Amino acid sequence: MLKSIFRILVALTLLLLSQACKNNQESTSMISKKLFGKLTNGSKVNLFTLTNKSGTEATITEYGATLVSLFVADKNGKFEDVVLGYDSLDGYVKGASYFGAIVGRYGNRIGKGKFNLDGKEYQLTINDGENHLHGGALGFNKVLWKGEEIESSEGASVKFSYLSVDGEEGYPGTINITVIYTLTNNNELKIDYSATTDETTILNPTHHSYFNLTGNLENTILNHELKINAEYYTPVDSSLITTGELAKVENTPMDFSVTKKIGEKIDSDFEQLVYGKGYDHNWVLNNFDGNVNNVASLYEPTSGRLMEVLTDQPGIQFYSGNFLDGTTVGKNNIVYNHRVGLCLETQCFPDSPNKLNFPSVKLTKGDTYKQQTIYRFSIK
Ligand code: GLA
Repeated sequence: MLKSIFRILVALTLLLLSQACKNNQESTSMISKKLFGKLTNGSKVNLFTLTNKSGTEATITEYGATLVSLFVADKNGKFEDVVLGYDSLDGYVKGASYFGAIVGRYGNRIGKGKFNLDGKEYQLTINDGENHLHGGALGFNKVLWKGEEIESSEGASVKFSYLSVDGEEGYPGTINITVIYTLTNNNELKIDYSATTDETTILNPTHHSYFNLTGNLENTILNHELKINAEYYTPVDSSLITTGELAKVENTPMDFSVTKKIGEKIDSDFEQLVYGKGYDHNWVLNNFDGNVNNVASLYEPTSGRLMEVLTDQPGIQFYSGNFLDGTTVGKNNIVYNHRVGLCLETQCFPDSPNKLNFPSVKLTKGDTYKQQTIYRFSIK
């Protein structure tokens, strides 16, 4: 009799303990899923919300594997959205600014959309003047990915998968790509890419959030302070195609090797800034070794928000929102004016398939493409 009472007590204690552990896990990170909308073909598009123990919240949709909002605390503990975007799915379907999306297969431009791979010429969709930009007309940002919650010891995690078929936008090979977003309890938004191909091809995806750390998407980003760990950048021609040259940032407005206010030199008559209508260039990251390194930091003094960028990629495209011109209405009916958001897109250098001195973006059958990029938030 006593023995069975003891057994029941032990079982009850174990049950209570396991419940307590579960609740504890649930209170540190959470994921919820809801319907965002439907595409014209009837496909349902989901929205996942990831929350961490300090209340940071990232919402990501299956359409374009797009980060829709990112609520981060300021120095007074006030949570505000620090990325541009739209209120509804329709905005993302119609929009042309790549807000928050995964872009690819090739982030940034390929001159005239042409490249040669193993002796064969390929012609990609032309969708930016005479060039190919961000994967073409229906790049990774304009397709429906499949999202699923996954287990992660680091925080709330959602995996997005997409099968890009042979010939899509002119690219060879069928690519199976997954992108995992994890919101860690250290206030990091971690993005892990993985892809394989059934035929040798090129691949260079990136993430295209427009950040505004003031938390008020009506403000410009000109008072943000930026540091990029790079001594060189890749100059462009007037159609924004890299020339192949690596130029020193020293003594030019391109120098962010020491923290600088973005607005300080943005309107100077330096030819590269005239071509880009502001900053729209790739920086050649120092000490690239294939490991995840701290490569850039962005600080906004009024909110105290600091965002560090860590990546295993060789380059970062800093785009200062120069094409935003007040014609786009975003979340909460806010009109997105000139330079109200900036992108820090980790990637290989633009037009690298045509620049043999740039790191290669070739993905061979049997190999796996990997990228990890982290946007880490704190208060300074
Ligand atoms: C990138 C490009 C810019 C522009 C934006 C999207 O960052 O470098 O030139 O095309 O995307 O508008």
